[in-house]
Amino acid sequence: MQSVIKRVLMCRPLYFSSFDYIINPWMQTASINPKKALKQWENLVQVYKDLGITVEIINQVKGLPDMVFSTDQSLIFGNNVLLSRFRYKERQGETPFYAEWYKNHGFEIVQLPQELYFEGNGTMHFWNDKLFVAIGYRTDVPVCRYLQKLFPDIEVVQLHTRAPAFYHFDIGFFPLDDQTIFFSPDAYIPESQKLLKNIVPNFIPLTRKETEGFSANSIVTGKTVVRQKGNPTFGNKLAALGYESIEVDLSEFKKSGGGINCLTNILEMRE
Ligand code: ARG
Repeated sequence: MQSVIKRVLMCRPLYFSSFDYIINPWMQTASINPKKALKQWENLVQVYKDLGITVEIINQVKGLPDMVFSTDQSLIFGNNVLLSRFRYKERQGETPFYAEWYKNHGFEIVQLPQELYFEGNGTMHFWNDKLFVAIGYRTDVPVCRYLQKLFPDIEVVQLHTRAPAFYHFDIGFFPLDDQTIFFSPDAYIPESQKLLKNIVPNFIPLTRKETEGFSANSIVTGKTVVRQKGNPTFGNKLAALGYESIEVDLSEFKKSGGGINCLTNILEMRE
């Protein structure tokens, strides 16, 4: 079965310049070119529109540089939005603006208890009858108990992260379809890898170079993968599986540890 994206929410990077904080190992405090970032983002929007995807837009608020990463804001299920609770105070200010957007667009907001933190699709991923949760840097085990209650028909599967570089799922984990997941062998502890191997029919490792090139930070719709520019070997692997690639350059966003998937909050799919 091939899922096609119908509608996404993206945040226009109006103030994406330098950072004065570091909360993941990919981040750099200097050298972001805001004009270039805006251009790269606009190009991604155009790619989505050309693929027939409706792009909803929220404007970035000054002083919240990481607000551009819309996928981290929530976990969407049907018309419901489980709002994130960011671990770092530097990102907590983003939530009210997204909450407002979701409310104004007819979504029902669900919230976690105060003491639990999680970062939307950065830390979770629905896959077949499962919900994968990346435990370690941005969410923790107690969240899983809460999620299991919220989704009684879905099996919540914990994957324990092994290094801070993999603070979010989309650095070392890329589900291509309902049979195939790409993963970085450095991302999860051996027990979690074993677990995945038993669940996933095609469990394909990414090389270190592919991982560092943010190959996993891709978006798939139908038989097309929108992926970070470069990474030719990853492109070949996708082609061998019958997928076409569209390469986009998001180098400015990588300086904050983000890429294509991070900038894309999927609101609706078409089966
Ligand atoms: N600087 C941001 C952070 O550390 C980057 C988030 C990127 N999002 C993602 N899904 N990888 O929170």
